[in-house]
Amino acid sequence: TPQALQELMTSRIAEYPDFPEPGVLFRDITPLLADPVAFHAIISHWCSILPERIDYIVGLEARGFVMGTPLAYELGAGFIPARKAGKLPGTPRQISYSLEYGSATVEIAENAIPAGSRVLVVDDLLATGGTAAAAIELVRQFDVELLGASFLVELQGLDGRSKLPEVPVTTVWSIP
Ligand code: PRP
Ligand code: ADE
Repeated sequence: TPQALQELMTSRIAEYPDFPEPGVLFRDITPLLADPVAFHAIISHWCSILPERIDYIVGLEARGFVMGTPLAYELGAGFIPARKAGKLPGTPRQISYSLEYGSATVEIAENAIPAGSRVLVVDDLLATGGTAAAAIELVRQFDVELLGASFLVELQGLDGRSKLPEVPVTTVWSIP
């Protein structure tokens, strides 16, 4: 039920004030991952709210890998890692961005996504939207059909959605 899911999210996602820097209320998903029943329930529910016929899930290092791979496996889709700079061989495409607490560069391997593929971007959490907006811009450099972006947690107060115009956004738990 929706209440049971809500209860799982509130009880298995911990809050840490002022981490990793003052003013940030950090949401820690590791208790959810450590609970096999909760993890399974959340992945099953998440699959049920995603677009149809996904060919590839692009997951963002590192927590987007943890959430994106079980979704891809369950849906029968491929998984493509968007990695922090310097980890991928060859000549990856890259983009730099800022997030709630810092900045980073993310990369996708040059020929990782076949033309015409139906692609969904996945991450654990949408905060300011800097990370997701960059990932979407990077994915759009490939000749693909972008189906949208999906997150386990959305921090509504930071208005990340406004950075993702014209992209269908789905979230499991949207926190006011
Ligand atoms: C966190 C989170 C998202 C991003 C959201 O990642 O997993 O990717 O921040 O913030 P934003 O909406 O303000 O851009 P982080 O860079 O801390 O990396 P991690 O997954 O390796 O912990
Ligand atoms: N990434 C960006 N902001 C975050 C937050 N408040 N909690 C967890 N991860 C985050």
